[in-house]
Amino acid sequence: MRKHIVAGNWKMNTTLQKGLELAKNVNTQISGNDVIVVLCSPFIHLSEVSKIINKDALFLGAQNCADKENGAYTGEVSAAMIKSTGASYVIIGHSERRAYYGETNEILATKVKLALQYELTPIFCIGEVLEEREAEEHFNVVKTQLNEGLVDLSDENFSKIVIAYEPVWAIGTGKTATPDQAQEMHKIIRDHIADSYGQKIAEGTSILYGGSCKPSNAGDLFTNPDVDGGLIGGASLNAEDFMGIVTAF
Ligand code: 13P
Repeated sequence: MRKHIVAGNWKMNTTLQKGLELAKNVNTQISGNDVIVVLCSPFIHLSEVSKIINKDALFLGAQNCADKENGAYTGEVSAAMIKSTGASYVIIGHSERRAYYGETNEILATKVKLALQYELTPIFCIGEVLEEREAEEHFNVVKTQLNEGLVDLSDENFSKIVIAYEPVWAIGTGKTATPDQAQEMHKIIRDHIADSYGQKIAEGTSILYGGSCKPSNAGDLFTNPDVDGGLIGGASLNAEDFMGIVTAF
């Protein structure tokens, strides 16, 4: 059985104090259900959030990591540093990193390897922009992101990766993919993984949906056989909404 995961991506929101309040609020509502719940806070919150959450029920993740191991890279945060805070996940290749910070599949492939080296679980994000979907290129776009971002991985390492399908046109727009659109793409992704790594690894890979997911639509999205959870932006900033999504399984 593959894992069900709901991860909150706070993006560049919350001061340290507000972030701690939010984490505490989620922490008190978590009751160790079957879903893995991850809070991906800003870097500077990580070590403080780590101290106040029940680590048996709630996991911590970063939103990015450096593509270098250590050294003179001013302002960067390494996978080793993230791991040292108590975090166990890291989002890699979010569309905002790709679009605003020029992160290419090649850079992302390096980040994935460093994350794995430091025993962080990468949540590797893929997804097409609207023009690509309208041109019916969306399946190819996503397959290329997988092929180029997740390269030269052993079966063992690939099986540690979580995929997040986030259609860019659905992020922060209020325009969610329909459950059928999500299922269609998730099945394509799983079949593509099966072609490269075999059916067993594909069946074990958790594939999350992200893009305007909220309590009112999470249930319909999560009932799809290939949708194994969600990567939640806006709705993760409110503990009640976030828990409404967690309990939608
Ligand atoms: P929204 O849930 O705000 O659409 O953001 C999704 C996202 O980008 C999560 O990484």
